[in-house]
Amino acid sequence: MRPKVMECLGELYSRLDESGMINLLDFSMNAMATKLGQLLLPNRFKQFLPKRDPKATKFFVDFIRHIISERRQNPDLKPDDFIQLLMDAEMDITNLVADGLSSVGNRRSWDKQLAENEMIAQGFLFLVATYGGTALMLAFSIYEMAVNEDIQRRLYDELKGAIDSETGEIPDHVLARLPYLEGVISETLRRYTGTIPLARYCTQDCKLGDTGIIVKAGQQIEISVHAIHHSDLNYQDPFKYDPDRFMPDRKHLIKPYTYLQFGAGPRHCVGMRFALFEIKLALASLILRYRFLRCFKTDVPIRYKRFIHQTHPCRVIVNVNKRDLLN
Ligand code: HEM
Repeated sequence: MRPKVMECLGELYSRLDESGMINLLDFSMNAMATKLGQLLLPNRFKQFLPKRDPKATKFFVDFIRHIISERRQNPDLKPDDFIQLLMDAEMDITNLVADGLSSVGNRRSWDKQLAENEMIAQGFLFLVATYGGTALMLAFSIYEMAVNEDIQRRLYDELKGAIDSETGEIPDHVLARLPYLEGVISETLRRYTGTIPLARYCTQDCKLGDTGIIVKAGQQIEISVHAIHHSDLNYQDPFKYDPDRFMPDRKHLIKPYTYLQFGAGPRHCVGMRFALFEIKLALASLILRYRFLRCFKTDVPIRYKRFIHQTHPCRVIVNVNKRDLLN
């Protein structure tokens, strides 16, 4: 993963304008999220989508098509990955017609299989929901570092102190357990609920404690993670960015099910550990090499735009100074 992070750093540096400012959203996956919305949302919601970037869209659609066509040409190679799972579920229309399964009566036997466009949409969704969410959280973390210099300094000191003197790098097992880095990322995930609301389908009537509310079987409910993360019943001074909430001496005060950025229960995010480590690695590499500062274009507080339920910022602009250290 380290070479990938270095690639990203190169990209970050190339996006700096002459004044040293960068819009962190250019660095994320807006374009892909927009395309996904164009593909999947009903027309009345499409007006809220930002203008899409056809080049980025084309790149990802062509990329997924290319993988699919390569694998069709080499059917014996069956890598154990996401695209292969989608391909295994692909609908073979030729056989369906030949077998007479296209009739309405037999529809249920094949209507769960995927057409190629659906495979591409799923591939897109996987990228947007995984890397998109990760990139957005990285952008918010850097924003908070720029507007809270004391927090950035504390994080920098922790990271610098963790560098191995022989290798000049932070060993992965150490990076995974740095308490303040963990606090910064957890607080970013609490404060900026980038994901859409959690949804659950109720299978049997449920009485919700002594609230008098009954959720009936068959009803679908949405759980607003943003409201739970910003209720003062759950967090003191909830709109304050405070990584100390997640430090080892205070972490136990967080009530169960009030921190839901990765969901909860058997369907919680399967990529959580991967995403957390990826953000840690990227943030640590960035903070050790660059100092992020508030500039005249930095929005404080952040301005949001309407975007399929997400807390999606209009822009996240900060100033970047290269540090001449690491020694
Ligand atoms: C900061 C980054 C991420 C956030 C905030 C996030 C958040 C979430 C949330 C809230 C859910 C729904 C959980 C629920 O309903 O209880 C979810 C599901 C899921 N996530 Fe993530 N995720 C992130 C990154 C990733 C990554 C990197 C991957 C894969 C590499 C991933 C793969 C998945 C999958 C496959 C599901 C569906 C799980 C299921 O339905 O059983 N996520 N994620």
